[in-house]
Amino acid sequence: MPKLWGGRMKGKADQAMFALNASYAFDCRLYSQDIRGSIAWTQALHQAGVLSEGESSTITDGLAQVLEEFQTGTFIPVSEDEDIHTAVERRLTELVGAVGGKLHTGRSRNDQVATDFRIWVMETCDGLCRQITNLAGVMVDHAAGNLSVPMPGYTHLQPAQPVTWGAWLLAFVWPLCRDRKRFEQVRASTAVLPLGSGALAGTTYPINRTWLAETLGFKHISQSSLDAVSDRDFALEFLFASATLGIHLSKLAESLILFNTREFGFITLDDAFSTGSSLMPQKKNPDPLELARGKSGRLIGNLTSLLVTLKGLPSTYDKDLQEDKEPVFDSADTLLALLPVLAGLIHTMKINPEAMGRILQSELLATDLADDLVEEGIPFREAHAVVGRLAAAAEQKEKTLSTLSETDLEAAGYRGNPAALRSLTVEKSLARRSNIGGVSSSALSIQLEAARAALSTQRGG
Ligand code: ARG
Repeated sequence: MPKLWGGRMKGKADQAMFALNASYAFDCRLYSQDIRGSIAWTQALHQAGVLSEGESSTITDGLAQVLEEFQTGTFIPVSEDEDIHTAVERRLTELVGAVGGKLHTGRSRNDQVATDFRIWVMETCDGLCRQITNLAGVMVDHAAGNLSVPMPGYTHLQPAQPVTWGAWLLAFVWPLCRDRKRFEQVRASTAVLPLGSGALAGTTYPINRTWLAETLGFKHISQSSLDAVSDRDFALEFLFASATLGIHLSKLAESLILFNTREFGFITLDDAFSTGSSLMPQKKNPDPLELARGKSGRLIGNLTSLLVTLKGLPSTYDKDLQEDKEPVFDSADTLLALLPVLAGLIHTMKINPEAMGRILQSELLATDLADDLVEEGIPFREAHAVVGRLAAAAEQKEKTLSTLSETDLEAAGYRGNPAALRSLTVEKSLARRSNIGGVSSSALSIQLEAARAALSTQRGG
């Protein structure tokens, strides 16, 4: 079988050049999208009067057989298969004879590959949305089961104010809701059909592109054939959504790694989601979380890689564009491997409320004390300064805010009611933050329902 472009060339292609040029090794995973696209193209050619009824059904049946060979693992690639498009057409022609050579009428691999790739990205967005929803659902359930368990909240990694485990975990659910929305939007902007653009200047046959779009699950048809064969914005958007999700997972992983240390001891990972050390028998390591953190690097790299590939390309199709697929495949594979593991890890991890309670000292109630002084009519700025002096005194005398003596209070210029100081509690601190978004149990119940509602919203909702 000669190469698709064999006629123009005199001798054989240099072997090393052929290997460099070939993409079958990675684009073979587009086989089902490629064959679906070709079956629709065959029908469009028949509608346009280019293929007879008989030719159209022979080609369609042949393509269905090629699909089956891929699905059952019996498709045997040959060394001349430059890419998936070449491989499918070569096998089709072996099966149905010379009529297979009519399939590519009016079409180019340039509009073909853009079509296949877009279908693949749309389908993968759906798969990722399902996995994101699953992980976020597991997190919402874990939060619901521990909604009001007090824990120290941190800023600058310093104990700041009391929050709850439910509030802490729900804070990681909302980024995932945004990630899911982002992938839905990527899917929507990918749904523009390039097929019918030919190599760059359109097709000479009266192909019904609107029918093709509907048949292949696209919402729109491209308006410029020159743009359509080179537009990879959808791939960039996919890679950006993937990198952003990767960053969210990395941040979650980093916090859980920290909370899983002996020093914090806030959580305990299940053995099924921990690994051992080959040398130190006592070790139980959070490898899956470290991989979640580490893999964000390649997700960011994949986005950067395609951005750089696209920068400065001259108009329409250039072979540089073949470099678009591997970063996209890699980002999708990375996330699809990661998301279910994180869901399992969070589902099985245990929290240790006593360890969290040990950090919940009265210094975390300093803001509450300042608020109490404000209630007594003292301007906030002055209240802030007084409580700051109390905190410094407590630290110096190795006491807590609530065990400072009357003399200590006087020395710091405390003019408030001493009873306010003695009656500071974590429970009161949490309860008074009852506005929407706050950490009181009533506010958290509302947030929990809002998160559940956000996750149950279907695409486009
Ligand atoms: N394997 C190619 C790619 O992924 C298909 C398009 C080839 N087109 C061409 N004019 N050589 O981009």
